Amino acid sequence: MNDVRRLRELATDIAREAGELARLRRAEGVLLAATKSTVADIVTEADREVEQLIRDRLSAERPGDGFLGEESGGADSATGLTWVVDPIDGTVNYAYGMPAYSVSIAVVEGNADPETWIGLAGAVYAPVLGELFTAARGEGAWLGETRLSVNAEAPAGALLATGFGYDPTTHDGDLATVRQIMPLARDLRRMGSAALDLSYVAAGRLDGYFERGLRPWDFAAGALLVTEAGGVVTRTDTASERPMLVAAGPEIHAQISSVLHNES
Ligand code: IPD
Repeated sequence: MNDVRRLRELATDIAREAGELARLRRAEGVLLAATKSTVADIVTEADREVEQLIRDRLSAERPGDGFLGEESGGADSATGLTWVVDPIDGTVNYAYGMPAYSVSIAVVEGNADPETWIGLAGAVYAPVLGELFTAARGEGAWLGETRLSVNAEAPAGALLATGFGYDPTTHDGDLATVRQIMPLARDLRRMGSAALDLSYVAAGRLDGYFERGLRPWDFAAGALLVTEAGGVVTRTDTASERPMLVAAGPEIHAQISSVLHNES
């Protein structure tokens, strides 16, 4: 039986170390390594170096566990556990010198398939903001020593967040979704790091979050944070290339889902 607290400690230790490396490299200046799916979808040298650090630490501490990382791909699990890692979530913010970026590390039971995995532990560390969000299955979600809970209701309208894919052909659809959802919202944020958006839902700093087309490493740790903080996370349209993820407290989640369900 794996101890989820020990897994959380390991995720936390490595996320801190990785975050400090990212911050150091940012202070030295960003080197763009490549573009990926589109010209807007960038990877920096630091993304690669930070992922390598995380991967090396995990293979030393947890040989045999599987791995899925944004930059270096995957390795199958021989133990039944898989680590799902975004070395720098919010790479565009990072490249522009904005503080809203984070290291996201999760460990799940099962393979690297969000449809079937069970989240066990996770850490989201924002090194410039100095904030560390952690969760372990059945043990709650935490910001440092403070236990987190999602907002139960949003009487003045929900403070929502979303994100947009890097592919410009998807923007019209995403904007149509925003238009549909705005009647529910008191306001809308687009912060640029899905892992932080989800951490903020867990912390009650946002009432809800929705985005299409996230990749597993963007939400693996953050989704566990939300559910451990009493929230609901769903992924729908999973057969499409851009599943819709919605995260919020139960009541607000139901409101968002009902609007999205009626999307034309
Ligand atoms: C991106 C961020 C962004 C979200 C994009 C993600 P990356 O991750 O989380 O907020 O809107 O969908 O791809 O590329 O910075 O790791």
